[in-house]
Amino acid sequence: MPKTLILYDTRTGNTDRMARAVAEGAKSVDGVEVVLKRVAEGSGELADADGIILGSPTHNAKPSRTMTGLLANLSEVPLKGRVGGAFGSYGWSGEAPEIIAQALRGQGVRVLGEAVRAKRSPGANDLTRCKDLGRTVAESVATIGEQTA
Ligand SMILES: Cc1cc2nc3c(=O)[nH]c(=O)nc-3n(C[C@H](O)[C@H](O)[C@H](O)COP(=O)(O)O)c2cc1C
Repeated sequence: MPKTLILYDTRTGNTDRMARAVAEGAKSVDGVEVVLKRVAEGSGELADADGIILGSPTHNAKPSRTMTGLLANLSEVPLKGRVGGAFGSYGWSGEAPEIIAQALRGQGVRVLGEAVRAKRSPGANDLTRCKDLGRTVAESVATIGEQTA
Protein backbone atom coordinates (compact mmCIF):
# COMPACT_ATOMS: atom_id res chain seq x y z
CA MET A 1 0.00 0.00 0.00
CA PRO A 2 1.39 3.47 -0.80
CA LYS A 3 2.40 5.46 2.24
CA THR A 4 2.06 9.07 3.34
CA LEU A 5 4.45 10.09 6.10
CA ILE A 6 3.75 13.15 8.22
CA LEU A 7 6.91 14.11 10.05
CA TYR A 8 6.80 17.12 12.35
CA ASP A 9 8.31 18.96 15.26
CA THR A 10 6.57 20.97 17.96
CA ARG A 11 7.55 22.58 21.22
CA THR A 12 4.30 23.89 22.69
CA GLY A 13 1.77 21.72 20.83
CA ASN A 14 0.42 24.04 18.13
CA THR A 15 2.14 22.30 15.22
CA ASP A 16 1.19 19.00 16.85
CA ARG A 17 -2.50 19.89 16.51
CA MET A 18 -1.93 20.83 12.91
CA ALA A 19 -0.13 17.53 12.27
CA ARG A 20 -3.05 15.56 13.69
CA ALA A 21 -5.44 17.40 11.37
CA VAL A 22 -3.15 16.72 8.38
CA ALA A 23 -3.19 13.02 9.36
CA GLU A 24 -6.97 13.03 9.70
CA GLY A 25 -7.33 14.43 6.19
CA ALA A 26 -4.88 11.90 4.78
CA LYS A 27 -6.66 9.02 6.52
CA SER A 28 -9.93 10.00 4.81
CA VAL A 29 -8.43 8.65 1.57
CA ASP A 30 -8.83 4.91 0.97
CA GLY A 31 -5.88 2.72 0.10
CA VAL A 32 -3.14 4.83 1.67
CA GLU A 33 -1.17 4.03 4.81
CA VAL A 34 -0.72 7.14 6.97
CA VAL A 35 2.15 7.42 9.45
CA LEU A 36 2.33 10.36 11.87
CA LYS A 37 5.65 10.85 13.67
CA ARG A 38 7.74 13.47 15.38
CA VAL A 39 11.14 14.04 13.80
CA ALA A 40 12.71 13.07 17.14
CA GLU A 41 11.21 9.57 16.75
CA GLY A 42 13.37 9.04 13.67
CA SER A 43 13.11 9.72 9.97
CA GLY A 44 13.88 6.20 8.69
CA GLU A 45 10.45 5.89 7.12
CA LEU A 46 11.30 8.64 4.63
CA ALA A 47 12.96 5.99 2.50
CA ASP A 48 9.73 4.23 1.55
CA ALA A 49 7.19 7.05 1.85
CA ASP A 50 5.42 8.05 -1.37
CA GLY A 51 4.03 11.23 0.18
CA ILE A 52 6.07 13.35 2.59
CA ILE A 53 4.46 16.14 4.61
CA LEU A 54 6.78 18.02 6.94
CA GLY A 55 5.70 20.41 9.70
CA SER A 56 7.60 22.70 12.06
CA PRO A 57 7.12 25.82 14.13
CA THR A 58 9.18 28.87 13.15
CA HIS A 59 12.11 29.43 15.51
CA ASN A 60 14.29 32.47 14.83
CA ALA A 61 12.97 32.82 11.28
CA LYS A 62 13.72 29.17 10.45
CA PRO A 63 12.27 25.72 11.06
CA SER A 64 13.14 24.30 14.49
CA ARG A 65 16.66 23.00 15.00
CA THR A 66 15.45 19.40 14.78
CA MET A 67 13.62 20.05 11.51
CA THR A 68 16.55 22.05 10.12
CA GLY A 69 18.74 19.02 10.81
CA LEU A 70 16.34 16.77 8.93
CA LEU A 71 16.22 19.16 5.96
CA ALA A 72 20.03 19.23 5.85
CA ASN A 73 20.05 15.44 5.46
CA LEU A 74 17.18 15.14 2.99
CA SER A 75 19.54 14.55 0.09
CA GLU A 76 20.59 11.22 1.65
CA VAL A 77 17.28 9.73 0.55
CA PRO A 78 16.29 9.77 -3.13
CA LEU A 79 13.01 11.70 -3.04
CA LYS A 80 12.71 12.76 -6.66
CA GLY A 81 9.23 12.31 -8.07
CA ARG A 82 7.48 11.96 -4.73
CA VAL A 83 4.75 14.31 -3.58
CA GLY A 84 4.82 16.43 -0.46
CA GLY A 85 3.56 19.30 1.60
CA ALA A 86 4.56 21.66 4.40
CA PHE A 87 2.89 23.23 7.43
CA GLY A 88 3.60 24.86 10.76
CA SER A 89 2.53 27.21 13.50
CA TYR A 90 4.24 30.55 14.00
CA GLY A 91 4.13 33.63 16.20
CA TRP A 92 4.87 36.66 14.02
CA SER A 93 6.93 36.02 10.88
CA GLY A 94 6.30 32.36 10.05
CA GLU A 95 9.10 31.48 7.62
CA ALA A 96 9.36 27.76 8.41
CA PRO A 97 6.67 26.21 6.15
CA GLU A 98 7.94 27.94 3.01
CA ILE A 99 11.56 27.03 3.84
CA ILE A 100 10.46 23.39 4.22
CA ALA A 101 8.54 23.52 0.92
CA GLN A 102 11.62 24.90 -0.86
CA ALA A 103 13.85 22.22 0.66
CA LEU A 104 11.46 19.51 -0.58
CA ARG A 105 11.34 21.07 -4.05
CA GLY A 106 15.12 21.17 -4.01
CA GLN A 107 15.11 17.35 -3.73
CA GLY A 108 12.67 16.99 -6.61
CA VAL A 109 9.55 16.56 -4.48
CA ARG A 110 6.36 17.88 -6.08
CA VAL A 111 4.93 20.07 -3.31
CA LEU A 112 1.13 20.13 -3.42
CA GLY A 113 -1.22 22.75 -2.03
CA GLU A 114 -0.17 25.78 -0.06
CA ALA A 115 2.41 25.74 2.72
CA VAL A 116 -0.14 25.90 5.55
CA ARG A 117 0.63 28.38 8.35
CA ALA A 118 -1.35 28.93 11.54
CA LYS A 119 -0.67 31.81 13.90
CA ARG A 120 -0.11 30.36 17.40
CA SER A 121 -2.93 27.95 18.29
CA PRO A 122 -4.60 26.74 15.07
CA GLY A 123 -8.26 27.73 14.71
CA ALA A 124 -11.03 25.81 12.95
CA ASN A 125 -10.18 27.36 9.60
CA ASP A 126 -6.49 26.49 10.00
CA LEU A 127 -7.32 22.90 10.89
CA THR A 128 -9.56 22.63 7.82
CA ARG A 129 -6.65 23.78 5.65
CA CYS A 130 -4.46 21.17 7.34
CA LYS A 131 -7.00 18.43 6.61
CA ASP A 132 -7.20 19.61 3.00
CA LEU A 133 -3.41 19.39 2.70
CA GLY A 134 -3.37 15.83 4.07
CA ARG A 135 -6.19 14.75 1.80
CA THR A 136 -4.64 16.36 -1.30
CA VAL A 137 -1.29 14.63 -0.78
CA ALA A 138 -2.90 11.28 0.10
CA GLU A 139 -5.15 11.43 -2.98
CA SER A 140 -2.10 11.91 -5.15
CA VAL A 141 -0.34 9.03 -3.37
CA ALA A 142 -3.40 6.80 -3.88
CA THR A 143 -3.11 7.41 -7.63
CA ILE A 144 0.47 6.10 -7.51
CA GLY A 145 -0.94 2.97 -5.83
CA GLU A 146 -3.48 2.48 -8.62
CA GLN A 147 -0.76 2.77 -11.25
CA THR A 148 1.44 0.12 -9.67
CA ALA A 149 -1.40 -2.27 -8.67
C1 LIG B 1 12.83 30.25 20.71
C2 LIG B 1 11.65 30.67 19.87
C3 LIG B 1 11.84 31.41 18.73
C4 LIG B 1 10.76 31.81 17.95
N1 LIG B 1 11.00 32.51 16.80
C5 LIG B 1 9.95 32.82 15.99
C6 LIG B 1 10.17 33.52 14.76
O1 LIG B 1 11.28 33.87 14.38
N2 LIG B 1 9.10 33.82 13.99
C7 LIG B 1 7.83 33.46 14.33
O2 LIG B 1 6.90 33.71 13.58
N3 LIG B 1 7.58 32.82 15.51
C8 LIG B 1 8.60 32.48 16.34
N4 LIG B 1 8.37 31.82 17.51
C9 LIG B 1 6.98 31.51 17.89
C10 LIG B 1 6.55 30.07 17.57
O3 LIG B 1 6.74 29.78 16.20
C11 LIG B 1 5.08 29.91 17.94
O4 LIG B 1 4.95 30.05 19.34
C12 LIG B 1 4.47 28.59 17.50
O5 LIG B 1 3.08 28.61 17.74
C13 LIG B 1 5.09 27.43 18.22
O6 LIG B 1 4.62 26.21 17.69
P1 LIG B 1 4.60 24.86 18.54
O7 LIG B 1 3.50 25.02 19.59
O8 LIG B 1 4.27 23.79 17.55
O9 LIG B 1 5.94 24.70 19.17
C14 LIG B 1 9.44 31.44 18.31
C15 LIG B 1 9.24 30.70 19.49
C16 LIG B 1 10.32 30.31 20.27
C17 LIG B 1 10.08 29.50 21.51
